[in-house]
Amino acid sequence: MERVALVTGASSGIGAATALALARNGYRTFAGIRGSDSGNKVPAALRAESENGNEEEELPITIIPDMDVDSEKAVVSAVSEAASYNQRLDVLVNNAGYGQFGCTEDVPLPEFRRQFETNFFSIVRIIQEAAPIMRRQGSGDIINISSVVGRMGLPGSPAYISSKFALEGLTECLRYELGQFGIRTTLIEPGVVKTGFFDSMRIPESCSDPKYRVLTDHMLAGIKMMVEMGTPPSQVADAVIGAINDEEMLPRYVVGADAEMFMKAKREKSDIEFERYMSEELFPK
Ligand SMILES: NC(=O)c1ccc[n+]([C@@H]2O[C@H](COP(=O)([O-])OP(=O)(O)OC[C@H]3O[C@@H](n4cnc5c(N)ncnc54)[C@H](OP(=O)(O)O)[C@@H]3O)[C@@H](O)[C@H]2O)c1
Repeated sequence: MERVALVTGASSGIGAATALALARNGYRTFAGIRGSDSGNKVPAALRAESENGNEEEELPITIIPDMDVDSEKAVVSAVSEAASYNQRLDVLVNNAGYGQFGCTEDVPLPEFRRQFETNFFSIVRIIQEAAPIMRRQGSGDIINISSVVGRMGLPGSPAYISSKFALEGLTECLRYELGQFGIRTTLIEPGVVKTGFFDSMRIPESCSDPKYRVLTDHMLAGIKMMVEMGTPPSQVADAVIGAINDEEMLPRYVVGADAEMFMKAKREKSDIEFERYMSEELFPK
């Protein structure tokens, strides 16, 4: 029976690459996009390869337009549409997200909350919809796209980073809760990936202290440099497929040479040593 996958935020970057990879691996893939299906860049990203003749046959991708993960109605309807196809849902990839930049004092609380709404609570919402279906079928894979910063605090984007920390905690809990029903859950932790993510980052207009400005400008400049050499989104998509194909799905998969380097340092150092190491990496004298 054709297996069914649902990917959120599939209009671009990692989501589009993952939807393509799942379809190429034989999944009927429902690609949730926030925009409408007509004249949108999304189908273009997803269909580019089939249109330029690289694909022999049409990929099994169904676009779900208007899937804003902040909308309960949209999420309920998207899960139901995907699950109706074959009366099952085998893979759920929680990818939709954005980055709120700015130091803690400079991000208004509603913006901080908004960041959690999209990057964290939307995932709780979709899992609450998808898990009953997976429990009934006694199987299912839930892949949460986190980040290497889901495991390390850095200055300049605490709203984004803490939303990924929350996702890490949730996923560790789910592995116990859902594991008993045959549902596997994992985290994908990329370093810097070459996508439009940093262009659509939300940046506060002002800083409450010039020192915050210096800090955020420094971090933004560093990110800009790293994006150019960033991991391609297809590599993250490959990690998702690798996780699904693993006989024993691991709690987390680190993706990219930068992420692996930081994780190695984190494993080998005490917390205070790691903080000093990161300070030297970020602010070399
Ligand atoms: N790029 C990196 O360096 C990096 C590193 C680690 C982790 N990540 C994570 O990877 C995921 C994908 O990011 P990306 O790098 O592929 O960036 P991207 O190209 O900007 O993709 C983000 C996707 O999320 C969608 N999205 C944002 N808010 C949404 C909402 N409320 N409802 C539905 N869709 C929404 C965007 O849709 P629209 O097109 O409508 O805006 C877009 O499809 C994010 O969770 C991000 O935190 C990225």
